[in-house]
Amino acid sequence: MSKMTFIDRDGNELTVEAPLGNTILDIAHANDIDIEGACEGCMACSTCHIVIEPDWYKKLAEPSAEEEDMLDLVFGLTRTSRLGCQIEITKEMDGLRVQLPSETRNMLLD
Ligand code: FES
Repeated sequence: MSKMTFIDRDGNELTVEAPLGNTILDIAHANDIDIEGACEGCMACSTCHIVIEPDWYKKLAEPSAEEEDMLDLVFGLTRTSRLGCQIEITKEMDGLRVQLPSETRNMLLD
């Protein structure tokens, strides 16, 4: 079973199982990680914003144009920001490390 590590806002790390085909958002929810995901993956909220560690960011498939558009609206955007609902775990992603952003903004509420 693949594993991945979440790093929270205080720098605490939690390594969890990362089943193939699950999204990072699915895995966060399965492990009580504090990522909201208000639109459940419809790319309408951006509350699943996560920051990928730079070495890993390069290895992931490019974000879609729709994801890029939504990321433009993210509060606290970084160069390695992604939407957790849009990244599915593959075999190559065993050991993936992602950080929770300092804040999120729910576009559904704006
Ligand atoms: Fe809403 Fe990812 S859960 S954009």
